[in-house]
Amino acid sequence: MQIKDILQLSPESQSVVVKGWVRTKRGQANIVFINLNDGSTIKNIQAVVEDGKIEEEILKKISTGACIAVSGTLVASAGSGQAVEVLAQTIEIYGTADETFPMQPKKHSLEFLREKAHLRFRTNTFGAIFRIRHALAFAVHKFYNDNGFFYLHTPIITASDAEGAGEMFRVSSFEPNAAPKNEDGSVDFSQDFFGRETSLTVSGQLEGELGAMALSKIYTFGPTFRAENSNTTRHLAEFWMIEPEVAFYELEDNMNLAESFVKYVIQYAIDNCKDDLEFLQTRLLEEEKSKPQNERSEQTLLEKLNFVVENSFERLTYTEAIDILLKSKPAQKKQFQYEVGWGIDLQSEHERYLVEKHFKKPVILTNYPKDIKAFYMKQDADGKTVRAMDVLFPGIGEIIGGSQREDNYEKLMTRINEVGIDPDNLWWYLDTRKFGSAPHSGFGLGFERLVLFVTGMGNIRDVIPFPRTPKNAEF
Ligand code: 4AD
Ligand code: MG
Repeated sequence: MQIKDILQLSPESQSVVVKGWVRTKRGQANIVFINLNDGSTIKNIQAVVEDGKIEEEILKKISTGACIAVSGTLVASAGSGQAVEVLAQTIEIYGTADETFPMQPKKHSLEFLREKAHLRFRTNTFGAIFRIRHALAFAVHKFYNDNGFFYLHTPIITASDAEGAGEMFRVSSFEPNAAPKNEDGSVDFSQDFFGRETSLTVSGQLEGELGAMALSKIYTFGPTFRAENSNTTRHLAEFWMIEPEVAFYELEDNMNLAESFVKYVIQYAIDNCKDDLEFLQTRLLEEEKSKPQNERSEQTLLEKLNFVVENSFERLTYTEAIDILLKSKPAQKKQFQYEVGWGIDLQSEHERYLVEKHFKKPVILTNYPKDIKAFYMKQDADGKTVRAMDVLFPGIGEIIGGSQREDNYEKLMTRINEVGIDPDNLWWYLDTRKFGSAPHSGFGLGFERLVLFVTGMGNIRDVIPFPRTPKNAEF
């Protein structure tokens, strides 16, 4: 049985076996207390060793980090802080840990723990984060399954750049120095494994659209890769993305889906991760005590999550947002680092002003200028904007990017030529606009940005088990 379940039992001196890793061991004159954790819950179970019950030789080998199995009886706890504890009869040691074990029971900085990513799971903070991450992933599948969507596995190796941003990691089986060359000196990819240039995907959307043009409602949930050299607290080179794609949906339907989806998964975490969220909330409050009053957050973690679930997201166009920004104090006082004007790609400082200062709630911005968005977005009648939608979250910025898709063959072709994509590489994508084209829409939610928001952590490297960022792929 796992510790989570044992802690729920009523103590009747029944026999139990608890297996886990030692968090702490405290000794008094005639008694030793061992706190064990097996990751099933943030709570530890206390094993009590009475004088003479366990050989001194064995007890000596037990220290923080060791893995043991304690057999004994479950009794009501004499101490405060826990309802039940285990009176040890025998202890088996699976693996000892000496004093060089880095996760000693004291405060560690998140930076230190990142360097020990192979062991950081064994801290309360990371145990909580990865249990919440699991719950959110499960909720994603549950939401889509319950709403009639099919989980579609799109390829990880691809020949097309879905976002057209040229930020792809190459996939090749050539030896670096022995790649066959064409006459003009360029690499001859026709001799490579796939007979063409291939990369790791930046998005499953294009293939997802093919699925939606038959199954009507699909979603993907897989790893995506971007070789952008952004060393920020919001960017990873390998991250997980959820991409629903729905036939017959227009932009408005897409916004409704995005809003109800995010609210559902956050509510799921609130309902199913109570202990872990409360732990992280307390951790955050402690952390903020060292900050000046005006930099502390106005809401606790759970208040913030409940606020998002209970309030509707503000919806406005890009053009309206630019007007608000132009009239804003920071623009008037020239406090923005990047100047505001129609046509700019909004910077994080602009997004955060809108979300955190102006509306004080999540915002959905729509109808962006076509020149700053991908080729596949549906063009508006004005010829200037496209049916894009970005969902912006407090403390995070963009958490979702999506759009209605261009379903008109001629318009899509014109755009593909304008931005300089070779249509021969996308013939299969274009075919869906030739055969039974239909209005359709979809979006991508960055899974780690969601986990960041729900856990209240400040750095995206702390919400994925093994982060991949520039110059960092150790574990
Ligand atoms: O806005 P993006 O680039 O949109 C797409 O990839 C579309 N194909 C989605 C679609 O319409 N099906 O990325 C979507 C989301 C962003 O809003 C952000 O949350 C996340 O993916 N994201 C990243 N997360 C972590 N690290 C990065 N480098 C990210 N780049 C994007
Ligand atoms: Mg985007």
